[in-house]
Parts: sequence; structure tokens; C-alpha cells
Amino acid sequence: MKHTCIFLIGFFIISLLSCEKEQAQIRVGGIFPLTGASATFGHSSKAGMQLAVDEFNAKGGIEINGQKLLIAPIYDDTAGQPEQAANVCRKQIDQNSVVAIVGAVMSKNSLAMAPICQSKQIPMISPSSTNPEVTEKGDFIFRACFIDSFQGIIIAEYAYKKLNLRKAAVLFDNGNDYNKGLAQFFEEQFKNLGGEIVASEAFTDEDKTVDFRAQLTTIKAAKPEFLYLPNYYAASATILMQAKELGLDIPVGGGDGWDSPKLVEIGGQAVENGVFTNHFSKDDPRPEVQNFIRKYKEEEGDAPDSLASLAYDAAFVLFSAIEKAGSLSGVAIRDALKATQLQGVTGNISFDEKRNPVKSAVILQIRDGQQQYLTTIAP
Ligand code: PHE
Repeated sequence: MKHTCIFLIGFFIISLLSCEKEQAQIRVGGIFPLTGASATFGHSSKAGMQLAVDEFNAKGGIEINGQKLLIAPIYDDTAGQPEQAANVCRKQIDQNSVVAIVGAVMSKNSLAMAPICQSKQIPMISPSSTNPEVTEKGDFIFRACFIDSFQGIIIAEYAYKKLNLRKAAVLFDNGNDYNKGLAQFFEEQFKNLGGEIVASEAFTDEDKTVDFRAQLTTIKAAKPEFLYLPNYYAASATILMQAKELGLDIPVGGGDGWDSPKLVEIGGQAVENGVFTNHFSKDDPRPEVQNFIRKYKEEEGDAPDSLASLAYDAAFVLFSAIEKAGSLSGVAIRDALKATQLQGVTGNISFDEKRNPVKSAVILQIRDGQQQYLTTIAP
């Protein structure tokens, strides 16, 4: 009996081990805001990344040392909080043994994760964090999107040159790297062009702030002709509703943080005619874009937003780099990433010396509750 038991236990351990070997996989992290005030960003990003995973796995996975391995994504939630982003990042590297990470979305979360990935030599590619500092954290940190100096400048030029406006006001979350940076880039460029910033008002923590009336009253008294709101969708929509209530009805603009169906759901008429910079437009006729929209709709029902498209591109770029490296070593994947050159859904992706892609932006306008394409701006 005793011998049978030992035999059975031994057999059990051996099968476990061989099972482990048979199921060798490439573990890749996906870290997004799946809950919290910006949860639509997380939902779209996860869905976009999963499409890239499915595509690579459908062709048998990626060949490493002569063996085809499937990609096993591990998704975690930042809840939009830097501390939680850092914790799940550490967990994915130390406990889940991921070879690379796609994430985060919000710049403040990527800024919390980047030093960890850098010190552990785990390549990280943020699909959508646009704050310039993110990739400055080190040579293992990449992104798939343009940066905020670019999108801030675009709207300043649009307001000054296209709309011919000379007095602008800004209202932004000064506890958030993305909002703060974008406000600064817009203000600098608007002034460079000869315009005047008549009010620059701030608040803290857009996830919790619900009343912007004090700042809006100050802004209204300064008589701006244009209002720039470089915040995420929930705060921007609420601000616009309160602005209209206070009788501040002037042309408004924002950044990629506006890209959510919730902007219109929350803001309704108040967000009508607002313009914002974004990473892609559903109206782009390129086959990469139209094929992706079709595939995404099959899976998700809705059309993709820029978060989904960027996460798909970021994951695709990463998996192509792993394929080219033929290795799961962080250094080899990083080197292959650096040499990337591919045409993605959101445009051409090849990295400059700071591991930022040089890409075009689009300007969209909310008309009849829909995102309308206005124009494309090349870098
Ligand atoms: N660029 C934003 C950030 O850095 C995130 C974002 C990207 C939001 C694209 C919407 C669309 O925080």
C-alpha cells in the first residue's frame, strides 16, 4: 500500500512537470484601467490586445528555440491608480514571470510602472501613454502613440490659425502628469503664435472632482474665446455641462483623453462641436484600418476606439519583436523592438532614439453626437 502511494505521488509529480513543459507559453502582461473613472479605456485596450494575441495564436504562436509557443496574456487592472499599477506590474514580473508588458494607458500609471520594468529589464510598451517622460525612464520602455508636445501644439494651432481666436483659457487636473503636460504644451504654443492665455485654472483629482463652477466662473470673467480641456472624458464632459449652465458658450478643445463613447453619453449637447486630437479615425480608408474595424466589430459588437487600435498595434509590435528575436530574453526583445518598422492600424510605427514612434494625429469633432473626422496632421 505504502509503495503504491509513493508510486502514485511520484507519477503525479512527473505528470505535473511534463504537463508544465508541454504547455510552455509566452506570458505577456496587459495592464490597463479596467475599473474606475476611465474604465472604457481599459475595456477597449484589453479587447484590442486580445485580438493581436488571437491572431498570433491562430498561426500556432511564436517559434522560440525551434518550438512554437502560444501567447498567454495576463491582464491586470490599475483602477487608474499609480500605486496599484506599480503593484500589479511587480506581481506580473515576479510571480507571473511575464517576458514583457503592454501597458499602461494613463501616463501617471505608466510613469509608476516604467522604473520597475527598466530595473528588471522587462520590455514595456505603452499603447497610449502620451506624456513625454514615460519613455525617458529607460531603454526598455517604448510606446505606440505620439506624445503630448505634439498634440498640445496641434490644438493651439487649430484654435489660433484655423478658428482665428486670440484669447484662450485652460482648465486641467494638476495632479495628473498627462493633463498637466498637455496644458503646458498648449499654453506655450498658443503664446508662441501670438495668442494670450487669459486664464489657466486647475483642480486636483478628476476622478473625485464633481464641481468645477468656481474655476469656470473665474474663466468666464477673463473673457476667453477658446477653452482647452486636456482631461479625460468624464471630467471634460462634466466641465462642459457646467460651463454651458454658467453661460460660457465658446469653442472648446481637448486631447485624446476625450476618446470615449461616454463623453457624449455624459455631456450630451454640451460637448457638441468640441474638437480633439486623436490617434486614428474610423473614417480612414486604409485597408489596415478597415480590416481591423471589421474584425473588432465581429468580436466586440462596437467599432474600436483609439485605445483599442493602439493596444492592438502595441501588442502586434511586441509579438513581432519576440518573433524576430526568437528569444524570450528581455534584452533580445528590447533590441528587436528598437529595430521595428511596421504599418499599424494607427499609422507607421518605427521608434526614434527615445523609443517614441513618429506618427500623425487626427483632429476629430463631435457632431450630432458622433466623432467626425476633420483633418490629419503630420509630425
Ligand atoms: N494619452 C492618455 C494618457 O497619457 C491616455 C489616452 C490615450 C486616453 C488615448 C485616451 C486615448 O494618459
